[in-house]
Amino acid sequence: MPWLEWLSLLVKWFHVVAGIAWIGASFYFIWLDNSLRTPPKWKQDKGIKGDLWAVHGGGFYEVAKYSYGPEEIPKKLHWFKWEAYSTWISGMALLIIIYYFGAAAYLIDPSVKALTPAQAVSYGLLYIFGGLALYELACRSKLGQSPKVFALFLVTLIVVSCWLATYLFSGRGAYIHVGALIGTIMVGNVFFTIMPSQRKMVNAVTHKLDIDPKWGEGAKLRSVHNNYFTLPLIFIMISNHYPMTYQHQYNWLVLVAIIAVSAYIRHYFNLKHNDIHKPSILVIGAIGMALIALFISWPKPTTSANTEQTPQVNLSALEVNVQNIINTHCVSCHANNPTDSIFTVAPLGLKLDSWEQIQSNAQKIVNRAAITKDMPLMNRSNMTEEERLLLVKWFNQ
Ligand code: HEC
Repeated sequence: MPWLEWLSLLVKWFHVVAGIAWIGASFYFIWLDNSLRTPPKWKQDKGIKGDLWAVHGGGFYEVAKYSYGPEEIPKKLHWFKWEAYSTWISGMALLIIIYYFGAAAYLIDPSVKALTPAQAVSYGLLYIFGGLALYELACRSKLGQSPKVFALFLVTLIVVSCWLATYLFSGRGAYIHVGALIGTIMVGNVFFTIMPSQRKMVNAVTHKLDIDPKWGEGAKLRSVHNNYFTLPLIFIMISNHYPMTYQHQYNWLVLVAIIAVSAYIRHYFNLKHNDIHKPSILVIGAIGMALIALFISWPKPTTSANTEQTPQVNLSALEVNVQNIINTHCVSCHANNPTDSIFTVAPLGLKLDSWEQIQSNAQKIVNRAAITKDMPLMNRSNMTEEERLLLVKWFNQ
């Protein structure tokens, strides 16, 4: 369905732009908060607890943060919520367009778990919203009151969700679900905690009531969580280009390790904004990434190749032709154990070893081999026009 491709293109474009605006604002405000310094006395007397000066785009900016609030709410107050909401809405739309409409091709891997599309989609939604509910409950319970215990809970939640996703879904679908869960927790933090406490603060200032410092603290804690989630989340957004990660035998462990290292690297920047320089974090982070790369690329003992290839019976003459074409032009890369010298892992996780796999990816195959014609890559195997037309003929049947 070409219109679905177009929809996916437009929504993805929008999603990336909205995401840049959201994460950009998040980075900016964490930086801002950490960079505030004690202001001169006359500002302190006005209730300002920190200020900073910046120069950008041809002008000077003076920012002041109040301990409680201004004397009255200015006419125009900026909120920064639609960046988060629009990123989430477009992200969920993409998940539906790509992974739920295309569940058979992208979300379900029968060698992981043989799900029907309806099952896969229900598990996917349950996974995302169930995870959000667990996180929210934990934050509001006693667990949330002790930072150390809560950190332990959060680590457990992440490890279990990485494992569970790869237990249910294709590698690629699993990673994107962990990303969707993290993104949903982040937007939930904005929606359920940060925005309500900001509304309470604005209301208190408007009606000259006391501001409960707890509101600000709660919101601050959630935005710190969000801040540590940003780098892992962005890795997941681009992970579908790197099948060596999500196709790995221990893909859940790879993801846990990448989340841990990237959140730790974020920590370096958070400290740096406070004038604490700990380059050791970057060094340890780099060593961590190198270890992950080593772990991923460690040569595997060659198991009997293509054991999953089952002999096919009852294929029509045309189908046999199609399978031969794919064996000739595609499986050197798109296979369980590719023979290509560069692509040692099936690109985008697309494997075409068996007839079932060919059938469930029929739409995609025709798209790339007969319509856009960018497959086989660089046409190194000289696929002919007749062969491409044959694929279309088969697809139309
Ligand atoms: C030399 C290696 C190689 C060969 C041979 C090859 N491909 Fe690919 N294929 C790739 C790479 C690399 C990508 C990922 C490129 C991208 O990001 O779009 C890819 C992506 C694809 C995709 C997109 C998958 C998705 O999930 O979106 C399809 C479909 C595809 N190839 C079909 C084929 C078909 C059909 C053939 C044979 C006619 C073929 N490829 C031959 C390397 C190859």
